[in-house]
Amino acid sequence: MAKQKQNYPDFVYFVILLLHAHSVSARVLPLLQSCDKSIFRSSFHTIYDTSNYGVLQLNNGLAQTPQMGWNSWNFFACNINETVIKETADALISTGLADLGYVYVNIDDCWSTVTRNLKGQLVPDPKTFPSGIKALADYVHGKGLKLGIYSDAGAFTCQVRPGSLFHEVDDAKTFAYWGVDYLKYDNCYNLGIPPKKRYPPMRDALDGAGRTIFYSLCDWGVDDPALWAGKVGNSWRTTDDINDTWASMTTIADLNDKWASYAGPGGWNDPDTLEVGNGGMTYQEYRAHISIWALMKAPLLIGCDVRNLTTETFELLSNKEVIAVNQDPLGVQGRKVYVSGKDGCLQIWAGPLSGNRLVVALWNRCSKVATITATWEALGLESGTHVSIRDLWQHKEIAGNVGSSFSARVDVHDCQLYIFTPWTVAHSAL
Ligand SMILES: *[C@@H]1O[C@H](CO)[C@@H](O)[C@H](O)[C@H]1NC(C)=O
Ligand SMILES: *[C@@H]1O[C@H](CO)[C@@H](O)[C@H](O)[C@H]1NC(C)=O
Ligand SMILES: *[C@@H]1O[C@H](CO)[C@@H](O)[C@H](O)[C@H]1NC(C)=O
Repeated sequence: MAKQKQNYPDFVYFVILLLHAHSVSARVLPLLQSCDKSIFRSSFHTIYDTSNYGVLQLNNGLAQTPQMGWNSWNFFACNINETVIKETADALISTGLADLGYVYVNIDDCWSTVTRNLKGQLVPDPKTFPSGIKALADYVHGKGLKLGIYSDAGAFTCQVRPGSLFHEVDDAKTFAYWGVDYLKYDNCYNLGIPPKKRYPPMRDALDGAGRTIFYSLCDWGVDDPALWAGKVGNSWRTTDDINDTWASMTTIADLNDKWASYAGPGGWNDPDTLEVGNGGMTYQEYRAHISIWALMKAPLLIGCDVRNLTTETFELLSNKEVIAVNQDPLGVQGRKVYVSGKDGCLQIWAGPLSGNRLVVALWNRCSKVATITATWEALGLESGTHVSIRDLWQHKEIAGNVGSSFSARVDVHDCQLYIFTPWTVAHSAL
């Protein structure tokens, strides 16, 4: 016993050194370092650049894959109450969406009274949330789900409820006490103070509040948060608010694409919540919306009324293979790799997945049906590579052994989504 005790401090010291070295190196490890050189061209690392990932990563243990769930804003805006939130939690369970990973139930703006109480605390609106947020969190937790709340890095929220600027420590404690799991932090009434100054204090406050809380920055892309938010939040909005139109969805996809090399496990680019199911786009456009959001490792936060889903909307939101692309453990954001046609409206988006696989989207943003061809050069595959191809919307293997290029006809504004599995990988795995 005595001898073992003498050795103990050395051993502890060694483990601490090891852990320390590990946590530091984990922050800078390139995401693509283990890809197979016989399958991919030398251009692969340029096409799917991940060199900016992990710079001073927040590392609070959350967001190893993009967050999934629901947010109240797109469908309900200010018309929320505890009944809607509870019924939404119930619906996530009864539809099976929760089992597929949609577990965050996120309340957006309008949950609080217009003034703080005499102690300076935030207060849930007694008319719409009479039981309070703690009771709501208990209800949501009782179903195995997580509760998200909303505040603002300014004097007021966008709907003019009290903001958390200069109240970070108190409000973070309140959220933790209520059992909140997620904070979306908006950018209205910000007094002209730069986001880089206003967002870190809430990170520190959450960190000190005694509960692990997902921190979702919503500064609308002001001052390019991808450049600095990796050490602040678990996700950061890269753009203005989405709306339920084709113009908005495509514009936002392109803006978010620019920051692909900064995303990865722990911190994601956020092109805003989904509009799928809200009625402003066609089935094909919504299919493109969720396909591209999944491919670019965007948060998958449903923005429609999940208590009342059509069959088509449910099909789009519940595709396990598409969700698996979004939640792939490699965590590399896919991106636009090739365009052709008028104004570049015939597009190929692609991204590396675990196991040397690629996700490939053929997206027709033109106004006519078209055939889109993906060459191996555009995808970064070696010319001799043979792949099997699975169609994620048809749920079937459509080709067993394809080399050099792949073409498909794509409907107006539709997006086909495939996984390419290199032949060597497919066969050595058997
Ligand atoms: C709660 O909000 C929903 C959606 O806006 C509304 O339909 C319902 O009437 C509200 N219920 C109560 C009790 O206010
Ligand atoms: C929706 O977004 C588009 C593109 O960003 C914008 O031009 C349009 O004004 C927005 N529409 C509404 C109703 O906000
Ligand atoms: C359910 O959605 C349909 C449209 O998809 C709408 O017409 C209907 O009013 C909705 N029902 C409720 C109760 O909201």
